[in-house]
Amino acid sequence: MQATAIAHPNIALIKYWGKRDVPLNLPAVPSLSVTLDTFTTTTTVEWGAPADRLEVNDQPQAGRPAERVFRFLDLVSSDRPPCVVRSKNNFPTAAGLASSASAFAALALAADRASGQQRSPQQLSVLSRRGSGSACRSLWGGWVLWQRGAREDGTDSHGEPLFAPDHWDVRVIIALVSAAKKPIGSTAGMLLTQERSPLYPGWVSSADADIIQARQAIARRDLQALGAAMERSTLKMHATMISAGIRYWKPETVAVMEQVEAMRAAGLGAWYTMDAGPNVKILCEAQDAAAITERLSAIGATTQILGVGGDARIV
Ligand code: DP6
Repeated sequence: MQATAIAHPNIALIKYWGKRDVPLNLPAVPSLSVTLDTFTTTTTVEWGAPADRLEVNDQPQAGRPAERVFRFLDLVSSDRPPCVVRSKNNFPTAAGLASSASAFAALALAADRASGQQRSPQQLSVLSRRGSGSACRSLWGGWVLWQRGAREDGTDSHGEPLFAPDHWDVRVIIALVSAAKKPIGSTAGMLLTQERSPLYPGWVSSADADIIQARQAIARRDLQALGAAMERSTLKMHATMISAGIRYWKPETVAVMEQVEAMRAAGLGAWYTMDAGPNVKILCEAQDAAAITERLSAIGATTQILGVGGDARIV
């Protein structure tokens, strides 16, 4: 049997960084994201083939990426047959976007259906979390919360759709400043941060307050309050990483941050966030996006304007 699924990446407004359980991939903090439109991962799973095979963007994959995918399929069904997985991103991985989020959300959905199962979106979210934490938020469009959860088995740590995509028509501008490969992936970066950063306990204990503020701001469509909570979360996360010796920022990252602050001082509503990479994502109202990209282009950033995307789905 075969099935094809599409999922969008998401950007965390309030960040996930740190794990309370490594094998189950349970987060130390809750996080909150917005799903992006336009960018997609499309994944086909053939359940039953002569041998396991993975293709990403038409290129056969071996080694770690393939192992990660086929270990994940073992979670979909422990007595599975060999499978073929073909996955395509319509966006450059170099954009510093969480491609693992849309990848594992699409893979979980396609593999579940190809294997003749019918997990609920919540069960698919729990499953995709095992592949990559941020993937559990990409099952839904719009505004999604990922609860830390309290159960040891992780069944209460999954995405939860808070508001549908049409709740609020914001824009996320991707400002690409560097296509250089990041020095360390998020999984390893998180574990090093937990081990080494003296700021880590403060990062964990202050997360709930950011979630509450962001959630309330989204409910009343208050971009200033949401932007402030988002910047606080990203600055705290990066400060914690940096104190562990992990720095993803480049000089160009800081240049974009300064430009965003200058725009804000001039009355243009723009707020920044950065993930485990040097590129910056900027949150703004739809009507301000063109003026903001113009000012970012002036300092040499390549930009792309995205809106709010929908649910992961079978095609
Ligand atoms: C900075 O979900 O890629 O983008 O669970 O180890 O696969 P693993 O990590 P991943 O980490 C994403 C970290 C982040 C923040 C976020 O998306 O919340």
